[in-house]
Amino acid sequence: MRKNMIAVSILSANFCHLQQDITEAVAAGSKQIHIDVMDGIFVPSISFGMPVIRSIRKTVQCCFDIHLMIEQPERYIDAIADCGADLITVHAESTKHLHRVIQQIKARNLKAGIAVNPATPLEVLDYVLEDVDLVLLMTVNPGFGGQKFIPQMIDKIRMLRDKRNQLNLAFDIEVDGGINENTICEVIDAGANICVAGSAIFDRDISKSVKKLFAIMNDSKNSTSV
Ligand code: DX5
Ligand code: ZN
Repeated sequence: MRKNMIAVSILSANFCHLQQDITEAVAAGSKQIHIDVMDGIFVPSISFGMPVIRSIRKTVQCCFDIHLMIEQPERYIDAIADCGADLITVHAESTKHLHRVIQQIKARNLKAGIAVNPATPLEVLDYVLEDVDLVLLMTVNPGFGGQKFIPQMIDKIRMLRDKRNQLNLAFDIEVDGGINENTICEVIDAGANICVAGSAIFDRDISKSVKKLFAIMNDSKNSTSV
């Protein structure tokens, strides 16, 4: 399990100067870039794909955290890996063959993550938890930035943390959606260690927002970051 981290979601960045926005967020302390790939089927919206990821990989040295919100992600694991992913996360709801997709990601020597929608019970993870490096708990319904955090997800984060501790496992718990200066403490205290933030960073001063979120996170009870 890694120390607490802000993963910057570029979905809310200004695509006219994407590289500049990412560079500013990384310089302010974020070591993980969260990249949301959407297909217009698994989620209502379409974002971007391989050409964009390949382009930014050439200019940014940090962890590339690819969140696939696409149907049958098994079709694209190799293509996404070839773009320079470090971590690929697929939705439990998006494939009939979750175990197989995880093995596909691991066969590329990448970290493998599973995402679950707000209404999906944690039991879906039971037979694959030992194989994953990260579980991504959606704290909004996937598809758009700038949505409101769903408060019932706090209990879900706690339940997953307790499950991980009981099983003596070490996967990261990432939360995604509605994370800002008002919600970050609660998710960290509940057991999350990777916090995705998009609009809370790119809709305002990027550098100041990253630093402020880190500062709040480091003040929380569960602080493990340095
Ligand atoms: C939503 C995406 C998120 C999104 C988060 O489906 O998975 O990563 O960018 O945006 P905010 O932080 O604005 O809720
Ligand atoms: Zn995401």
